[in-house]
Amino acid sequence: MRPPRGRGGGFRGRGDGGRGRGRGGGGGRGGDRGGSGMKPRGGGRGGGRGRGGGRGGMKGGSKVVVEPHRHEGVFVAKGKEDALVTKNMVPGEAVYNEKRIAVQNEDGTKVEYRVWNPFRSKLAAAILGGVDNIWIVLYLGAASGTTVSHVSDVVGPNGVVYAVEFSHRSGRDLVNMAKKRTNVIPIIEDARHPAKYRMLVGMVDVIFSDVAQPDQARILALNASYFLKAGGHFVISIKANCIDSTVPAEAVFQSEVKKLQQEQFKPFEQVTLEPFERDHACVVGGYRMPKKQKAGAA
Ligand SMILES: C[S@@+](CC[C@H](N)C(=O)[O-])C[C@H]1O[C@@H](n2cnc3c(N)ncnc32)[C@H](O)[C@@H]1O
Repeated sequence: MRPPRGRGGGFRGRGDGGRGRGRGGGGGRGGDRGGSGMKPRGGGRGGGRGRGGGRGGMKGGSKVVVEPHRHEGVFVAKGKEDALVTKNMVPGEAVYNEKRIAVQNEDGTKVEYRVWNPFRSKLAAAILGGVDNIWIVLYLGAASGTTVSHVSDVVGPNGVVYAVEFSHRSGRDLVNMAKKRTNVIPIIEDARHPAKYRMLVGMVDVIFSDVAQPDQARILALNASYFLKAGGHFVISIKANCIDSTVPAEAVFQSEVKKLQQEQFKPFEQVTLEPFERDHACVVGGYRMPKKQKAGAA
């Protein structure tokens, strides 16, 4: 896999998506009941959580225009409501009943995209929130593989997503999903014990952590010490009330960031996941970053 491009980059994709123009949909964050829209609709969470799945293939054809997002490998389907989408690695198949959009190219060939629902995936919510630096390889807290499946689309056939999940129930779905997605390696283990899967995972460029545990900073640090290369990157989703429900969410975010800094993580950016998730933040940054050379130094 290619090395990360540095701070201005985005997803490490397949290189077939081009670099997008802006965020698509103006970075809209509204609560779309349909489950995928990007245009604000009165804001807030409202009654609808937008978690409803798709109804199978959505009409696409030549009317829907799909544009590259600025994160390589991620796209925006422009329609009545813009939607974040990824190019389906397994055309014809949905993973969590999400909508699919088939688009016809000028040469008559068809490409299928899967709508990436920000109410179902914190990573999608973070992208719509404007997060800049994301590269994925080791994914902690994979659950049934909802987000992992999109990450699999994004990194493409040459990428690898090691997906760690300790619940056997969710793990079953994850393993089934990975049967068709050969770039996903499901690991049904406790992320608190990386020694148990060290034989399966090599050094990685990025760790994405969404375990929603009080000791999640420690879990991330432990995995980073095994697998994350110096100068690699991390993405962590922080659910405030999993850590401390007695203080304001902002205070929890600050104290988690402090813990990360003590473990050689350098946060670059932080976004909240409103309106898709309440009291959640996503922090992205680097690990054991090389010290900047002073200008003029030999
Ligand atoms: C918030 S959910 C993850 C949702 C998923 N990232 C997605 O977007 O589809 C948290 C998941 O982390 C898993 N988890 C929690 N602690 C874990 C641990 N120590 N090791 C592995 N998985 C863990 C839970 O079983 C749960 O499935």
